[in-house]
Amino acid sequence: MKLTGIRSIEELNKGTGENPALFGKRVFIRVDFNCPLDKKTGEITDDARIREAIPTIKYAMDAGAKVIIASHLGRPKPGKHEGLSLEVCGARLAELTSYEVLLPEDCVGDAPKKVIHDLRAGQVCLLENLRFHEEEEADDETFAKQLAELCDVYVDDAFGCVHRAHASVHALPRLMRERGMGMLLRKELESLSKLVDKPAKPYVAVLGGAKVSDKIDVVEALLNVVDTLAIGGAMANTFLAAQGRDMQKSRIEEDKLPLARTILGKARDKNVEILLPVDLVCATALDADAGNIVAADRVLEGTMALDIGPKTIELFNKAVSRAKTVFWNGPMGLFETPAFSKGTFEVARAMSAAPGFTVVGGGDSASAVKLAGDGVAAGFKHISTGGGASLELIEGKKLPGVEALRTNAPPSDDRTNEKAPSR
Ligand code: 3PG
Repeated sequence: MKLTGIRSIEELNKGTGENPALFGKRVFIRVDFNCPLDKKTGEITDDARIREAIPTIKYAMDAGAKVIIASHLGRPKPGKHEGLSLEVCGARLAELTSYEVLLPEDCVGDAPKKVIHDLRAGQVCLLENLRFHEEEEADDETFAKQLAELCDVYVDDAFGCVHRAHASVHALPRLMRERGMGMLLRKELESLSKLVDKPAKPYVAVLGGAKVSDKIDVVEALLNVVDTLAIGGAMANTFLAAQGRDMQKSRIEEDKLPLARTILGKARDKNVEILLPVDLVCATALDADAGNIVAADRVLEGTMALDIGPKTIELFNKAVSRAKTVFWNGPMGLFETPAFSKGTFEVARAMSAAPGFTVVGGGDSASAVKLAGDGVAAGFKHISTGGGASLELIEGKKLPGVEALRTNAPPSDDRTNEKAPSR
């Protein structure tokens, strides 16, 4: 992906006088603080997205800007905001930095205006959850204008949601003359683009997770660039069943069996090697304490596949260690349960030790990398903070939040880009 016409925060800060251009300006930084929360305690279980946003926030603070941070959290239903306040993220940001984080009760209107007006050195304003207003997801222009009233400069550092055409990442930047990308967004776009623009070969993609249907577009796109596609997780069950294996109680998408056969056929035509599990760890229940290792064509009656087996780990890891480019999305099994975590963790370790350009994208796989052991994350060349966004980039789709940052993006109130009425 070309970043032509997108200014970095450093470029936005190029002043002509003594002071940096951001000095004294109200800088709106759209971050993705949509962190996983513990269902019982509401505590953040993985703060990577907050940590990764700090360099841009710090850069703006050091430049003397009045910093306004905005994010969504979760998918609140209309009027149901409980447990989705950004307070918990503000508290973590304050812990991780020396900043005092002020959280007005709403993201638009008088409350944030007052907080921003009164901001002192060392203080940042974190707006309340943008999705508490339905207009955010509707890409509503009036709402975007209300956000625009709060700031002079717009910086997008929310890679995780650039695939969404929502007001704070799509309508708002196009209302702002001074707009650009933060350091995290730039790092993500540059790193992930290496998987699309002439990736070093051999290129191995490892896909897992529950459903074939979630990954169909990315599989289609990957078949055009990869040499090997290794498939694990529950989605592998559907492929194994499509090859005629009796998967017993395993999770399978019956309606996707023809699709799985089509994908296998396309891979043959394109000369892409497909690696499917040759052995599996199976059990009778999801919460079992242990499983049996069986060949992929010998799943025992009444059991289900919950992880890849040791021979499959070896097969996948061999491919990974020889590759010059590796992309991974989706766990190899039910890794949250110790008995079924080995496949995911071993694949993570192999990727971490591999010499190629190794990239992991997607919330579950990125969390698994951290759980796989000390130092495993450090071995990856890039751990993406985006799940859906990283997949859409790899699929070659235009990302609305990125396009809106280009200097030639049509302004929000320009209706010429609307579809012509049908005749
Ligand atoms: C994500 O977690 O992938 C992003 O924050 C986008 O969230 P969404 O899928 O709820 O739009």
